[in-house]
Amino acid sequence: MALSLVIGLQSYLSAKTGEELFAKHCEACHGENGEGGVGVPLSLPSFVDSVDGDYLRKTIRLGRPGRIMPGFSQLKPEEIESLVDMILSWSSKEKKDYPKMNIVGDTIKGSQLYLTHCKVCHGQKGQGSKGTGVTFSRERNLPIMAPAIANSGFLAAATDTMIRDILINGRESTPMISFLDKGLTRSDINDLVAYIRSLEKERVDLIHLNQSPIIRYDSDYSLEETVNSLKNAITGRNFRIIRTQYLNEGLVPEGQENKKQVIVYFCNFKFLFDSLAIDPRIGMFLPCRITVIETEEGVSILAANPLAISALFNNDALNDSCVELRNIYEELLEDATL
Ligand code: HEC
Ligand code: HEC
Repeated sequence: MALSLVIGLQSYLSAKTGEELFAKHCEACHGENGEGGVGVPLSLPSFVDSVDGDYLRKTIRLGRPGRIMPGFSQLKPEEIESLVDMILSWSSKEKKDYPKMNIVGDTIKGSQLYLTHCKVCHGQKGQGSKGTGVTFSRERNLPIMAPAIANSGFLAAATDTMIRDILINGRESTPMISFLDKGLTRSDINDLVAYIRSLEKERVDLIHLNQSPIIRYDSDYSLEETVNSLKNAITGRNFRIIRTQYLNEGLVPEGQENKKQVIVYFCNFKFLFDSLAIDPRIGMFLPCRITVIETEEGVSILAANPLAISALFNNDALNDSCVELRNIYEELLEDATL
């Protein structure tokens, strides 16, 4: 009894307010006051006035798999509640919950309407636009990137009635306009809702979750020979070598570096700019680098597996570049050890 009181008191004292939790977990992407950044804006009246607590609660818990927005399943229910209350406090409107009824519509007609009116922003299959949030790589004529709607996190959080209201009202001050104003009928809108709901079954999931974080090849040659073949393979593929150094160079006094651990940095500018445009955080992995090490067992070449990056950043939009880079790494490592 006394013990549970103490524990209760401790968790009361350590309970964080919505503001503190937002600053810790959300601000970096959604902005200090919810104005948006890598993440979409959350404090716009057209957004906060039109969501209910359940939508926010589920969105925070589940995140948006493959769309940068992480899931916060580690937060306690009361912490998620504080966050929900805090976001809802940005709204001046009285809150009503969306009814959980299913909306019936013609999915075939809905898919045609989708291709005509929505594909241009939300993508052929509802995968969302490429890029991040409001400030970085979005197309300049579109102030906010279009979210993924064929996303397991979104579809689990949004009721049919909420999706219908978004299509009817749009979200003022964003590129998402009212489609009732655009001339669609309420019946067209129901068809669209039914179509969006049908995408639940086709959801795109992260394909790279089970990738080993490191690629490793063993070499039958000496360290020096392996480094030279690696450099030839790199320049042979139109990459530019930036520098070659000992792994601990600069970290130990000059002359005392470990000569059995060499790292080669290289770059292809087109690849660099294309990837940074999709997700600026990929800069942490660039320029490309491959390490050659010699141990008692022989010489090996190691590289971070680019396929693990899209999973690490929860960003499916990086998949194509990561697959491309993974193939390049494989070829380089194979050539260097041939
Ligand atoms: C000009 C680009 C554009 C077009 C065209 C467009 N949208 Fe949007 N849509 C957006 C943007 C941007 C947002 C995010 C708005 C925000 O930040 O609140 C959005 C939000 C949404 C949302 C809410 C998603 C979420 O995560 O909250 C849904 C659902 C949606 N759009 C469906 C549609 C459908 C269906 C159509 C076609 C009838 C359509 N959109 C057409 C740009 C567009
Ligand atoms: C690493 C960046 C990142 C972090 C951290 C993050 N978000 Fe997000 N969030 C996003 C992105 C990006 C989207 C848009 C998803 C899309 O484009 O499909 C989003 C979408 C959302 C949405 C849906 C918005 C809409 O239009 O329906 C809500 C709500 C949300 N985030 C709340 C939060 C909260 C609360 C936190 C902190 C607990 C948080 N996010 C942390 C990046 C982030």
